[in-house]
Amino acid sequence: MNLIFLGPPGAGKGTIAARLVASAGLEHLSTGDMLREEMKQGTELGKLAKQYIEEGKLVPDSVIIGMVKERLAKTEAGIMFDGFPRTVAQAEALDEIAKIDAVIDLETTVDVVVERICGRRLCKQCGAVYNVKWYSGSTCEKCGGELYIRADDTEETIRKRFDVYLKETAPLVDYYDAKGLVHRIDATGDVNEKVEEIAAIIESVK
Ligand code: AP5
Repeated sequence: MNLIFLGPPGAGKGTIAARLVASAGLEHLSTGDMLREEMKQGTELGKLAKQYIEEGKLVPDSVIIGMVKERLAKTEAGIMFDGFPRTVAQAEALDEIAKIDAVIDLETTVDVVVERICGRRLCKQCGAVYNVKWYSGSTCEKCGGELYIRADDTEETIRKRFDVYLKETAPLVDYYDAKGLVHRIDATGDVNEKVEEIAAIIESVK
């Protein structure tokens, strides 16, 4: 089974995918996490991506599609795609290499995501996601790594990323609706309820 999480920055894609990936028996593929790893390693791809990410723009399709193809070539497992595809060109490229069984569309507003992302903290070591609303520590509960704020998590960049989402990525809801694959979720509610709701959808498409 292959599943896609669609939704604006801060909708909860990464948080929910991390909670469900093991029980669903899938691998988590987050293009955002992959790009941040390239940046951390200081690779050419990472240096290129940094400029786009810090300005809240999308990294070019050719770079993203090449990176995803390389990753998919290394696994036989089903995938939980998080943050990919983000353009129609990426969705068309994905259609050529994988069959998609369901698309979870996390819907929310710009005000909700600005508040969430301004409080987001990530672990430098394992990438676990926290929020100051429910965790006030400075180290990761899972691995002890130091928590940090993403360079693109400023209010200005979040608003820009939200606009980019509406222009470039939201059309994918229609793209996958035409294939009868979309499950719409109101992502503004309690995260535990959202995890349960989506777990039930995954069971129903298995
Ligand atoms: P990426 O890392 O994918 O960022 P994003 O899509 O902007 O999404 P976020 O990680 O900001 O949000 P999320 O939905 O995962 O929310 P989270 O679970 O963390 O991409 C970053 C950049 O890389 C892009 O801007 C682009 O430049 C580039 N890029 C990546 N993929 C690309 C692609 N395919 N093509 C081109 N460029 C690409 O939750 C946010 C916060 O809210 C957390 O603190 C969490 O604890 C909290 N939270 C979550 N759910 C709830 C809830 N229900 N209630 C309360 N709080 C909640």
